[in-house]
Amino acid sequence: MSLPPATLEAAARVLRANDRGGWTVPARDLYPFQWNWDSALIALGWRRLDEARALQELASLLAAQWPCGMVPQIVFHRPDPRYFPGPEVWRTGRTPPTSGITQPPVLASCLARMVARARDRALVEAGARRLLPAIERWHRWFHEVRRDPATGLVVTVHPWETGMDDSPLWDEPLAHVPVPEGLRLERRDLVAVPADQRPRMAHYRRFLALVLCFRAWRWDQRRMAAQSPFRVADPTTHLLLLAAERDLEALARRLGVLDPEAIAARTARLEGAIRRHLQDPESGFIHAFDLAAGRRLAARAACAFLAFRAGLATDGLTRALMAWLAAVPFPLPTVHPADPGFERRRYWRGPVWPVLDRLVAWGLEGEPAARLAAVAAELIRRFGFREYHDPLDGHGLGGRDFSWTAALALDWLADG
Ligand code: GLC
Repeated sequence: MSLPPATLEAAARVLRANDRGGWTVPARDLYPFQWNWDSALIALGWRRLDEARALQELASLLAAQWPCGMVPQIVFHRPDPRYFPGPEVWRTGRTPPTSGITQPPVLASCLARMVARARDRALVEAGARRLLPAIERWHRWFHEVRRDPATGLVVTVHPWETGMDDSPLWDEPLAHVPVPEGLRLERRDLVAVPADQRPRMAHYRRFLALVLCFRAWRWDQRRMAAQSPFRVADPTTHLLLLAAERDLEALARRLGVLDPEAIAARTARLEGAIRRHLQDPESGFIHAFDLAAGRRLAARAACAFLAFRAGLATDGLTRALMAWLAAVPFPLPTVHPADPGFERRRYWRGPVWPVLDRLVAWGLEGEPAARLAAVAAELIRRFGFREYHDPLDGHGLGGRDFSWTAALALDWLADG
């Protein structure tokens, strides 16, 4: 499935319009800074236009790495009043200012794809050699600073770290987050997008309460991991980290850098923890785990299908994928339509996200992969480069001229 040349040219125009000189905004009005996993995936779009620019996208993100190894969720390169909470709320003390949490680690996987498909091999391999040590330190940070001692799982301390901010997966653990009296909240996101497509106020209050709590702890990442009122093991983080570790190990061997054996050893430990605690032994489905409450959560979301990319496929999971693919005209719905929590237009509570289809398809072959590519291509042709879509009628929702949607058109739908 491929897109017509005019659509690919339009995708390139979106990236150029969202380019701020070495880094790219996810969307002009809604997200006017640099976001972590957006940038990694956006670099895959840049690679089709200009490989040096693609490497620069990753380098600008890694330049904001914290001394502890964390690569932050947002880099606030320059002030912009259109987003809340901005750097004056986070107050992490970094230059340039950043948020104080992370996002799902896709950098290594994106870099591996850039290397594998390089046109200028010397350029891309040299770039990879420069970037890999920082990426390795970030991965190590997940294993060391964010390790839950009881389960060996990675601790996620904020729904924004999962990239799937208001997924129903977080309803239960979020309910235990206290909201301070007199919390002041601004919803600048509602200027650009209708309220019924964005998270509810009750959730937003808790998102902000967590930021204020960590700020009071001066962004002590070990304390956040141990004591955050929201402590979960997130399927997206785990499955993408597992895939990224495998990609990192392969890159290390190919380029003769880092310590591939050490990476392989910690990858095996991570895989064991996921199989033990997140994967249901009967259905094969990957669930979230509420570490604060000490139990696996029953809620189900489409991020479980990232397991194919992470090498954790089972027959049961394949059957579930087939059922989710058949459940709506435009799969994958982020929540199954038969689930009582399904909302067809609201953010991560039902809509189909082309970027999630792209990530899931990355681990699939044959008919299911072709189906996801066909859906994404049709959505883009009919509705442009949107953030997400109604899975029942395909209608475009959320932000417009969205960078990672344009990038996946260039990287995935242009050449499979
Ligand atoms: C939203 C999404 C997150 C993404 C960001 C920028 O916060 O939930 O995954 O990184 O927007 O696109």
